[in-house]
Amino acid sequence: MSNKLIAISGDKGGVGKSSLTALLSEWMLYRDRRIKVIDADPNQTTQTWIDKCAEMGREISNSKANITIVDTAGTSGSSLIKYIRNADLIIVPFKPHVADLEVVIGWFLSIKATLQEKVAFVPNMLSKTKEQATGVEEAKKIVAEEDTGRILPGLVERKAVYPPLLNGSAVNFFKGKLDRNTRLETELLFTEIDKILGLS
Ligand SMILES: Nc1ncnc2c1ncn2[C@@H]1O[C@H](COP(=O)(O)OP(=O)(O)OP(=O)(O)O)[C@@H](O)[C@H]1O
Ligand SMILES: [Mg+2]
Repeated sequence: MSNKLIAISGDKGGVGKSSLTALLSEWMLYRDRRIKVIDADPNQTTQTWIDKCAEMGREISNSKANITIVDTAGTSGSSLIKYIRNADLIIVPFKPHVADLEVVIGWFLSIKATLQEKVAFVPNMLSKTKEQATGVEEAKKIVAEEDTGRILPGLVERKAVYPPLLNGSAVNFFKGKLDRNTRLETELLFTEIDKILGLS
């Protein structure tokens, strides 16, 4: 397999970039892939997660990695440009609220077409509100209009499941005890990402 670079990005903070970086990393490890995880965000949330896992006896990054996953800062510029330009896939989590959507769509429309086609949006922290359903529909409409980029299956807001992930764990997330709905939604999302990357 050729090397793959996955950037977790977007111009909005607090939407789940670091959580999704950790979750995707756990998925790749669960599927016995060798990964390297880079935290390009000065906040170092992902690096802290990596360090905590290491303290618990689990190394996340492998020196023979052929899949690199980068968590980028929430604001444009700096590290974002460097990684995003070379990425095979740009994963952009977003909260489908009207205000957040404007930022994320504005960002999408401002980047070059060659980058747009690599963008995969992930609706995150979903709840069953009408506003959110409208938000996801709106995002789908814009992606369809632009005829580039794509929207992946989303993740529901699960306060008992996703926030503890970043505390680190000695056990892989997918090897641990998971409720059926969490397993279903994460498998749906990550098998789709595997498909895009040509991993099986
Ligand atoms: N699906 C979810 N369900 C519940 N909580 C979530 C979910 N996704 C993320 N969170 C929580 O939302 C908060 C923000 O997530 P996270 O730190 O991953 O976002 P971020 O985009 O990396 O933020 P920042 O811009 O600060 O780097 C965290 O407390 C995280 O645990
Ligand atoms: Mg973060």
